[in-house]
Amino acid sequence: MSTKNRILELLEQQRGESISGEHLAGILNISRNAVWKAVKELQKDGYNIVAVTNKGYCLSDENDIVSIPGIKPFLSEKCQSYIHKFHIYKSLESTNKTAKEMAVKDAEHGTVIISDCQTMGRGRYSRRFFSPSGGGLYMSIVLRPEVLHFKNPTSVTAFAAVAVCEAIESISKKTPKIKWVNDIFLDEKKVCGILTEAVTDFESGGLDWVVVGIGINVYIRTEDFPDDLQSLATSIYPDEKMHGVRNKLSAEIINRILGFETPPSETEIFEKYKKRLMMLGKEITVIQNRMEYKATAIDVDSVGHLIVKDENGEIVTLSSGEIRV
Ligand code: BTN
Repeated sequence: MSTKNRILELLEQQRGESISGEHLAGILNISRNAVWKAVKELQKDGYNIVAVTNKGYCLSDENDIVSIPGIKPFLSEKCQSYIHKFHIYKSLESTNKTAKEMAVKDAEHGTVIISDCQTMGRGRYSRRFFSPSGGGLYMSIVLRPEVLHFKNPTSVTAFAAVAVCEAIESISKKTPKIKWVNDIFLDEKKVCGILTEAVTDFESGGLDWVVVGIGINVYIRTEDFPDDLQSLATSIYPDEKMHGVRNKLSAEIINRILGFETPPSETEIFEKYKKRLMMLGKEITVIQNRMEYKATAIDVDSVGHLIVKDENGEIVTLSSGEIRV
């Protein structure tokens, strides 16, 4: 690890508190001048580090740059062992695109790609996903079936959806809900979308690899969303002056997706998923093959299909498609 990152790691561990240059130099066995140089570089990268006379250096609580040293203090012990597979970028076309390119080249289970912004963030049906710098968390994780034994990508989407809901809840005390199949809502508006992409092994018919992409609106204010999204999308903190949560949020998600000792069964996942669904028992509009019809959402089965009752009283099982609540 570079001197710069080692200093950042030490400052992150004591965020909001001052550490003397002498102390940092002693721990890293470098000169105070080398510490000063590394701090200057970090400041140039945008880190809000204050140098206080006779006290040392202090990383402001408000710092919100996502970094490996920033995520590390919040990672479970198990997930610390994955940290060498984390890649953080300032800008990417799409974290899913980069993760898929890595997966094709045999990236291991637990490879994590995060970008501060995406120039071509994508959602289902090739829709764009608004991904401005500093506004959200854009993350993709490569999963391999040898470690996470899921038979179909919908289970991975459900697994990630529950993980994201729990992670948002743990940092904000807000209660997110899931809209089948891959959206997470807060206050009746979309706060997160999940895009799971997989490749099937031709011979075995099983999954070869899965990339689960997670896009969360963290700080974007309503008026800063594009016009067509303003009535549909929200953020975890749409108007509060809140800073410094993206590292913790990243770690909380990673801990839940990669940190298990025994892989959860699909039954366990869908039980948790169902409890968070926002539309069971409610009237919904089903959109399929460019047709729309009204129905009542009744249940989700053990493989993630949505079971609805249409207006003629017929029970229909939806394996894909979209709904409006
Ligand atoms: C949707 O709303 O249909 C899913 C949106 C998924 C967005 C995330 S952001 C990180 C990852 N990279 C992408 O290009 N898409 C996913």
